[in-house]
Amino acid sequence: MRLKFLTLTGFCAFALISLNAAEKVDVSKLPPASDKKELTFDKDIKSMVEDSCLKCHGVEKPKSKYRVDSREAFIKGGDSEIAAVIAGKSAESPVIHMVADLIEEMEMPPIDKREKYVALTKEQIGILRAWIDQGAK
Ligand code: HEC
Repeated sequence: MRLKFLTLTGFCAFALISLNAAEKVDVSKLPPASDKKELTFDKDIKSMVEDSCLKCHGVEKPKSKYRVDSREAFIKGGDSEIAAVIAGKSAESPVIHMVADLIEEMEMPPIDKREKYVALTKEQIGILRAWIDQGAK
């Protein structure tokens, strides 16, 4: 009985730690948001993600059913059913954590594909952040 209880407690502690690890993202490592104003998806973001993301997240068979070819799709997210963009909150937006390599095994573009698909630069991530902070218009 006692052993069973201990095992259960151990399991719960482990589950809690795992959950926590999945959620903890060190946002202090994010590149700062750009001070560019009046950013829009069509004018500033669409062409930025073309080289780095579109081949895997376009109209045809998008990975994880996530598309970057329209503002609505870019915000909505894919199979995970977690919104990729939280308008107004770039530091909390999953897509920002992914492009800044803050989520292990969900770095975008994937680390092992970067010979072909270049990572966004700090400046580009800054513009993406500013666009989200301005409401993702
Ligand atoms: C070489 C292909 C490839 C490229 C390039 C790529 N991705 Fe991905 N992306 C994937 C794969 C594969 C997954 C699914 C990974 C998983 O769930 O383990 C994914 C998943 C995602 C997701 C999660 C979607 C969801 O809700 O399930 C987001 C957001 C994302 N990518 C954003 C991007 C962005 C932004 C770029 C460009 C900076 C990019 N990706 C470039 C292959 C790619």
